[in-house]
Amino acid sequence: MLNPVSLEPVSGSDDDLCDALATAQLPTEDIHEAGRTFFKARSDGVEVIGFSGIEQCASDFLLRSVVVLSGHRGRGFGKAIVEQTLRGLDRNGDVYLATTTAAPFFSTIGFSEVPRESVPPAVLDTRQLSSICPSSATIMKLQRPPT
Ligand SMILES: CC(C)(COP(=O)(O)OP(=O)(O)OC[C@H]1O[C@@H](n2cnc3c(N)ncnc32)[C@H](O)[C@@H]1OP(=O)(O)O)[C@@H](O)C(=O)NCCC(=O)NCCS
Repeated sequence: MLNPVSLEPVSGSDDDLCDALATAQLPTEDIHEAGRTFFKARSDGVEVIGFSGIEQCASDFLLRSVVVLSGHRGRGFGKAIVEQTLRGLDRNGDVYLATTTAAPFFSTIGFSEVPRESVPPAVLDTRQLSSICPSSATIMKLQRPPT
């Protein structure tokens, strides 16, 4: 059985976070800026297996910086990291992300592609969506069941 995944907050200047993002070719340009929260994920409370991040956008959120270290992929850790990251969020806010390569992975977790025109201005104004990610990036929104 897969070991449980736990998250601990880390700052945007965490060396391991920067290395993991750079190695996975994910953006690092803005990780030191305010308004972002990053997490280091450990398997069974010990081994570091990945990272994730959340950026507050008015009342909504941008999920970002999701990475599983290369030796640990394909074992459910990515899904567990995303699910744990989402668990801590205010359920009144919507969750968006932008990806150039991982849309099929995020669709297994309940995200689906949305048109740029439907995305709130505060999300579009993040550095990720306004300048770092190419305009061809897929924007996805977490589809939640009605409560
Ligand atoms: C994308 C990434 C986080 C996935 O992590 P992972 O631990 O390998 O994913 P999991 O094992 O949790 O996979 C969960 C599900 O997604 C599917 N999946 C994972 N990667 C996939 C891919 N590239 N294409 C299609 N499906 C994929 C798995 O088959 C699994 O499906 P299931 O639940 O039906 O069995 C990892 O490959 C990674 O770090 N990539 C580099 C960084 C990156 O692209 N991050 C996204 C930035 S926006």
